[in-house]
Amino acid sequence: MIKLNYRNADSLIIGQENGLDIAQEFTNYKERIAEIITSLNQRKDKPGQWLQWMNLGYSEETVWYVKEFASMVEGRFDNILVLGIGGSALGGLAVTEALLKPYWNLLTKEQRNGLPRIFFLDNIDPDTMNGLFDVIDLRKTLVNVITKSGSTAETMSQYMILKDMLEKELGDDYRKNIVVTTDKETGILRQLANQEGYKAFVVPDDVGGRFSVFSAVGLLPFALVGLNIDQIVNGIKDMDLALKNTDIYNNIAAQGALIQYLLDTKKGKNLSVMMPYSSRLKYISDWYVQLWAESLGKEVNNNGEKVNIGPTPIKALGATDQHSQIQLYNEGPNNKVITFIRIDNFDTTLEIPRIFEYTNVNYLAGKTINALINAEADSTRVALSDYSRPTMTLTIDKVDEYNVAQLLYMLEVQTAIAGELYNINTFNQPGVEQAKNYTYALMGRAGYEESAKNLQEKLANV
Ligand code: PA5
Repeated sequence: MIKLNYRNADSLIIGQENGLDIAQEFTNYKERIAEIITSLNQRKDKPGQWLQWMNLGYSEETVWYVKEFASMVEGRFDNILVLGIGGSALGGLAVTEALLKPYWNLLTKEQRNGLPRIFFLDNIDPDTMNGLFDVIDLRKTLVNVITKSGSTAETMSQYMILKDMLEKELGDDYRKNIVVTTDKETGILRQLANQEGYKAFVVPDDVGGRFSVFSAVGLLPFALVGLNIDQIVNGIKDMDLALKNTDIYNNIAAQGALIQYLLDTKKGKNLSVMMPYSSRLKYISDWYVQLWAESLGKEVNNNGEKVNIGPTPIKALGATDQHSQIQLYNEGPNNKVITFIRIDNFDTTLEIPRIFEYTNVNYLAGKTINALINAEADSTRVALSDYSRPTMTLTIDKVDEYNVAQLLYMLEVQTAIAGELYNINTFNQPGVEQAKNYTYALMGRAGYEESAKNLQEKLANV
C-alpha cells in the first residue's frame, strides 16, 4: 500500500508558526472526518451527487467491453490517437506515461510487442496537429474521441478534421477507425455516433471529467496499448476498501486532505505543490493540478456565501525542479505545502561507473542513479524543513498498474474529503463552463448570439 509521511508538516519538526500540532488536530477532527467518509460512501449511489467515480472499480461490465474491443482490434492499428481535453485527456496521459515503457512511441513495433503507439491531442495548436499528421499514418490509426459533454469545441473541431481526413483516405471504411467515449444519451457526439454507427463507450452518469480516469475514458486506451487493466481495477478496489475506514489514524486520504486544508486555512499555505521524484510520474502532477484546482477553487460555498477559496496547485518534478523552483520554495514566501512522491524500487538499475581515478566527482562512482534520485528527494525534504517549510511524502513501492491506480484513486478521495472540509461543491466547474460558453459565442454557435454581441463589445474595449 502507499504510505504517507506527514512528519515534516508537524510543528514538532518545523515549528508552531508554520507547522500543525497534527496529533491534536487529528483528535479535534476525528469525528468530522468519520462523518465525511461515512457520508461520501452513503451518498455515492445517489443520482446527482457526482460520486459514481467511487464505484468505477466495481464496473465489471466496462472492463469486459473494453477488453473485448481491444482484442477485436488487436494487431489492426499502429497508432491510437486520443482526442480530448482536460479531464478527458489528463488521466489517460498520466497513466500511459507512467506505465508504458519510457519513449514508447519511439520503440519499434517488435519492441512494443506489436502494440500500437499512443498520442494524446489535448490541445488545438494547428502546428502541433499538422505536425502529428506528418508522423502518423492515419489509415493505421484508431481515433478515440473522448468528450463527456459531446460538444467541447476543442475536441469536436479535432474530430471534424480527423473524420474528414479519414474519409478521404479510407472512403466508407473510415468508421472502423473511430471509437467514441461520451455520455450515453446526451450531446452532439452521441447523436453523431448513432448516425454514423461508430463503436461507442460510455462516460457514466455522475462521473465528472477529472474523476473519469477509471471509466472507459481511461480504461479503453489503457487496454488498447496492452496495460493490465485487471491490476488497475484491483488497485482501485483495494484502495477503496482501505479508504472506507472512517478512522483518521488509518486513512491516508483523510490525513492528506485534513493536513492540506489546515495548512491553508490556519497557516496560510495556499499553494499545493505536487513533486514526484520520477519522470514517469511527471504527468500525474498535471492530472493532480486539474483535480485539485477545478474541484476546490470555488466562488461560493455550500451555504451560498461568496468565499472565493481554493488552494493553488503547482506541478514540479524531482530532481529536475530542484534546479528551478526549490530556491523559491526554501527562501521565498512560506506559503506552500509540498507533496513529494518517492519510489522505493525502480524497474531498472543504473550504476555510475568509476571512470576517473582522482576527481571530486568520484564520490558518485559505484553508486546507482536510483540511490542518487532518492538521496535528492530526502535532502530536499530535509532542507525544506530546515527552512520551516511543510512537506509530506507519499511513498510507493514501484511504478506498476496496481500502485499507480491506488495513487490516483487515493488522490481523488483526498480531493473529495478536502472539498467537504472547505464546504464547497467539489464536483461542479462553473468557471470552466463560462469560458466554454464564451468560445461558443465567439465561434458563432446558434443560441449564443446575445453573448457574442456582448463579448464583441468587451473585446473592442480591451
Ligand atoms: O473535469 C472536467 O469536467 C473538465 O476538465 C472536462 O473534462 C473538460 O472541460 C472536457 O470536457 P468534455 O469531456 O465534456 O469534453
